[in-house]
Amino acid sequence: MRILYIFAIFATFLDLSLGDGDDENVDYQITDKTYPEGFVFGVATASYQIEGGWNEDGKGEQIWDTWIHNNPGIVADGSTGDVASDSYHKYKEDVACMKEVGVQYYRLSISWARILPTGRIDKVNQAGVNYYLNVLKELKANGIEAMVTLYHWDLPTALQDIGGWTNPEIVEVFADFARLSYGLFGDYVQTWVTINEPKQICHGGYANAGYAPGIDSKGVGEYSCARNILLAHARGWHIYDQEFRSKQNGRITIVIDSDWYEPTNYTPEDEQAAETKRQFVFGMYANPVFIGNWPQVMIDRVADRSAKEGFNSSRLPAFSDEEISLIKGTYDFLALNHYTTYMVGAADEPAIGSPSWELDAGGNVYQKDTWEQAAIGWFRVVPWGFGKLLKWIKATYGDLEIVITENGVSDRTGTLEDDHRINYIRSYMSHMLDAMYEDNIKITGYTLWSIIDNFEWTQGFNAKLGIYYINMTDPERPRVAKKSSKYYAKVIETGCLLDSCA
Ligand code: BGC
Repeated sequence: MRILYIFAIFATFLDLSLGDGDDENVDYQITDKTYPEGFVFGVATASYQIEGGWNEDGKGEQIWDTWIHNNPGIVADGSTGDVASDSYHKYKEDVACMKEVGVQYYRLSISWARILPTGRIDKVNQAGVNYYLNVLKELKANGIEAMVTLYHWDLPTALQDIGGWTNPEIVEVFADFARLSYGLFGDYVQTWVTINEPKQICHGGYANAGYAPGIDSKGVGEYSCARNILLAHARGWHIYDQEFRSKQNGRITIVIDSDWYEPTNYTPEDEQAAETKRQFVFGMYANPVFIGNWPQVMIDRVADRSAKEGFNSSRLPAFSDEEISLIKGTYDFLALNHYTTYMVGAADEPAIGSPSWELDAGGNVYQKDTWEQAAIGWFRVVPWGFGKLLKWIKATYGDLEIVITENGVSDRTGTLEDDHRINYIRSYMSHMLDAMYEDNIKITGYTLWSIIDNFEWTQGFNAKLGIYYINMTDPERPRVAKKSSKYYAKVIETGCLLDSCA
């Protein structure tokens, strides 16, 4: 308890926990400060969300193809990613959009099954390799750097058939895929991301059946998935570090997503509940990489609840000492995706019954109805949460270089007059600038999701996040600039968020 009080005082001093979360934006002024020289701006996409060409030129099937084809009702508007934004054929138009906006880099992902149809390196699909080489050459010709994610959720189905991310076999299979990719593409890639958002992969895919492969194994599946993901990431990082870094001079890390979890009130109990939730969300993936091992609060809580549930060992599988050292330090910078905020209040310890990560984390987690809502249900616009998350990361993990690898907002219509998106970008980026100037947080890059409207997973085409509109019923899929693309272009040119900037 004493420690909690000390933390609360410390947190207040750091302005981490203002409590309550109400109307924190009322008096907020967008900063007139500008992004420093050398700060870089990019845009992001992911293979399945934009490419289409789902079975073209020898591509293998991946879990989202399989899951959606087998469960037609699973996507909100009944659509699929079979064609998506058709970037398999229209990547040059995507690059032209980026050129128009003036971004310094493009974050894209490789479809594992496009280059390795079975997921394994014994059969390489040359047409798939050529596709990515063409994209990378087009970027280079236009002076745009490449940030390439190896895994953005599209696991070859053949690998899911052997258990996917819950089978330890995946670690070395991923390592092979990583090594092959560095060798094939590394001369064109300035920054590598091993894996995008392990939380979404493990919790959506293997615990609550919200994402492909649609497995419901709550309280067990996400932990074994997380363990293998972290080991696979670490192997991928070391292979680059030892075999490619000196020749290719790139950087490599893992992308971790986190919402901000604000305590309901200033009380030590609410602060503890919020901090526990942060550890179960961000710490679950960040601790092993930046500190070593799972967060202690996770080790303790999952072991305790597992024992009460009658398990013979903790549902959170332990890392050996060798595994802890293998994973620890496998980053060149901290890559963060952030979209929204939740409130967390203290709650009674959840009853023992069906195991789940949510119950392991505890707390009363909710969003406020007063917060503006975007097209996706969980998605509310809470710019101040971004600043608090950044401060908490610095206070918890130290003075690391941070690159924002995703941030952006959805709507349903894809309107070209997307002032709400400009407001979102402006206010989130303003809180980020405050964190840089007022708290000396070393943020060196910002990546907007997304350059074009695309296939938003189980929302299909119902949620549009692009700064270029695509009419998904038009076979030509023309890219049309939204107002937000002009705004982002101006921010990149001037480093300034205000309309009054020259
Ligand atoms: C994912 C993207 C997704 C975005 C918006 C992130 O979690 O990495 O693939 O489109 O959120 O929902």
